[in-house]
Amino acid sequence: QKGGYKHFMLKEIFEQPLVVTNCLTGRLSANHARVTLPELEELSTPERLHIIACGTSFHAGLWAMYIMESWAKIPTSVEIASEYRYRDTILGKGDQVLVISQSGETADTLACLRKVKQQGAKVIGLCNVVGSSIARESDTVIYTQAGPEISVASTKAMCSQLVVLTLMALFWGRRKHVLTEAEETETLDALRRIPEQLEAALPAMREQANALARQYSGARSFLYLGRGPCYPLALEGALKLKEISYIHAEGYAAGEMKHGPIALIDPDFPTFALIMCDDLFPKVQSNLQEVQARNGKIIALTQDDAVLTLDSVWKIPRSRGPLDVFFALPALQLFAYEVADYLGKDVDQPRNLAKSVTVE
Ligand code: M6R
Repeated sequence: QKGGYKHFMLKEIFEQPLVVTNCLTGRLSANHARVTLPELEELSTPERLHIIACGTSFHAGLWAMYIMESWAKIPTSVEIASEYRYRDTILGKGDQVLVISQSGETADTLACLRKVKQQGAKVIGLCNVVGSSIARESDTVIYTQAGPEISVASTKAMCSQLVVLTLMALFWGRRKHVLTEAEETETLDALRRIPEQLEAALPAMREQANALARQYSGARSFLYLGRGPCYPLALEGALKLKEISYIHAEGYAAGEMKHGPIALIDPDFPTFALIMCDDLFPKVQSNLQEVQARNGKIIALTQDDAVLTLDSVWKIPRSRGPLDVFFALPALQLFAYEVADYLGKDVDQPRNLAKSVTVE
């Protein structure tokens, strides 16, 4: 069942190239130049999008905010379901709600779906489990087609959510004429290349993760930093690490560090930084210099062409803009996996956690 892998989590991380392929299946035009999402055809384009989710699905939603705003020019808010359900939330007339849930059974997310439906909003469900409660109760459901995810720590499900969210942003961007045909085609070309690139990169990424795990697994606490689309990834990296290795980790927007967490920096408190070669590179670099100046150890996840002088520089392949996520995410997952495995933790069944949180 584990296909020769030691744990389901590892198997599911390595399935991600196939997951991207499966997610794209049937969702591109014959010439691969356009997105086809029949699930969205009947709905108008949202004037504002409210994304609601929990845990890893929330992080996928937060990442999507950046592309919904930049590619589709849709004002987007992203909400934690357990908070949203008890707030006096306000939905405008043309607003739509997107609920994201791998299991489709998360109690807080389901409660939000019911709440916004009562308020008359249209709900799009993004689910993995076919026929789940959220899938059934949404006005329209888009399936992530990731296949069953067994490990409690969500990995390939997030990857599949990111693919579909990319397609949704492209679909709406084109429909609103704020994205050119060339931009859509080039992004789809880049997306179609991911499976092969990732397949080739994963073995070396695992080796790198293993080496870093041996070096850093003695730490009692980690800081994860990222900016822009890498901020949700910093949150996700920290969640993965604490969930399966029981090491405390905190994800932070790199620019916020100087507003408090910088006080924690010392040689025993490592920082895992995401520093992609984008417009924010110099900003993150200067944040990292602040960490270095306080003798903090840094693992920097960056790209082949980046020049950095830091303790541990981990290079991953480059894609097109925010699609770098398809390499950064497995790196974070593999690091957490290798640390947990090195420490002898029960990777697939971490203590106190359930795969599907059906209670409040
Ligand atoms: O099934 P859902 O996507 O609604 O689940 C949400 C969270 O419970 C889930 O992502 C959780 O945070 C994972 N165990 C994280 O790895």
